[in-house]
Amino acid sequence: MKILHCKEYGPIENLVWEDIETPEPGENEVVVSIKAAALNFPDYLIVQGLYQFKPELPFAPGNEGAGIITKIGKNVTRFKEGDRVYFMAPYGAFAEEACMNEFGVFPISDKVSFELAASYQMAYGTSYHALIQRGNLKKDDEVLILGASGGVGLAALDIAKAKGARVVAGVSTEEKAKICREYGADDVVIYGNGPSDKDSAKQFSAELKSKSTKGGYDVIYDPIGDCYAEPAFRSIGWKGKYLVVGFAAGQIPKLPMNLTLLKGASVVGVFWGAFTGREFEENQKNIEDINSMLLNGVIKPLISKKIPMEDAIEAISLIGSRGVVGKVVLINN
Ligand SMILES: NC(=O)c1ccc[n+]([C@@H]2O[C@H](COP(=O)([O-])OP(=O)(O)OC[C@H]3O[C@@H](n4cnc5c(N)ncnc54)[C@H](OP(=O)(O)O)[C@@H]3O)[C@@H](O)[C@H]2O)c1
Repeated sequence: MKILHCKEYGPIENLVWEDIETPEPGENEVVVSIKAAALNFPDYLIVQGLYQFKPELPFAPGNEGAGIITKIGKNVTRFKEGDRVYFMAPYGAFAEEACMNEFGVFPISDKVSFELAASYQMAYGTSYHALIQRGNLKKDDEVLILGASGGVGLAALDIAKAKGARVVAGVSTEEKAKICREYGADDVVIYGNGPSDKDSAKQFSAELKSKSTKGGYDVIYDPIGDCYAEPAFRSIGWKGKYLVVGFAAGQIPKLPMNLTLLKGASVVGVFWGAFTGREFEENQKNIEDINSMLLNGVIKPLISKKIPMEDAIEAISLIGSRGVVGKVVLINN
């Protein structure tokens, strides 16, 4: 079977497709024939050695997907061959097949396609955890979302609207702003390539603040960091929560600590992957609420592109160049 391998950290083009033996499941493992896999920003970072941790080389990128169970280990009780499943795995979703512990695998409803199942769980899981557990989001709160048309950003917009918040979406282009309006954004700020000096940062901050009806935001959701973070923090409201989700724009920003004091505000870290392991039951409740909102049409994950699995290298380049809205899904035919 074919699998994408990272043999050295560096440019995305260094990734290679290889043919390996179809895996045999261990006692507690299942083999999944992958139908669809989701592209996530960490895929772009990890193969360059720029992610929070560096896997030992060689490794296979890709963390989530959906497909059909083709083999089960002798101790597996929760699944049988032929079951339709979603999986979250440390490695190897950009492949024809994957072998993993049965506890990384979850059944999917017949009403949900493989593409949809693969696409929303990490993005919506992250944003739900960020807004609800870390941001303590309440109905009528006012939320600013940066990078609001991206994978986790659009999920945050969708969830915040479903929970009754007023949302201002920050994006780089008018085309992305249009998508956010379609997803219910109450207002948008188009920030282009972001502020480049003190004056433009001040102007950006004033523009963000002007879009708040309360003089400052209750919650700010930031998956981009860099030059956007400090001006955005300056638009936070009294006792506001600033959610640190990621640094897609490049640099990890620094913040003058006095800004938190002036607003009684908090900077709150978000690490969904760790949360799923450390607070398994709380995460299960989040997933139930997300799935219920999905099946009732309250949220609607956006798959903007379906790309053949063999084009995964090009897809990973695309997400690193601001070229993705919503989710891109890789498909095995
Ligand atoms: N904390 C967690 O648990 C967790 C979980 C999942 C993901 N993340 C992080 O969240 C971030 C976003 O992930 P994602 O999957 O949503 O990615 P994505 O779909 O590519 O969205 C990222 C957004 O960042 C904005 N951006 C600004 N400057 C950029 C630049 N120089 N290059 C690329 N994008 C830029 C883009 O919107 P504009 O063009 O509109 O600015 C883009 O839509 C990543 O840093 C990822 O590692 C964190």
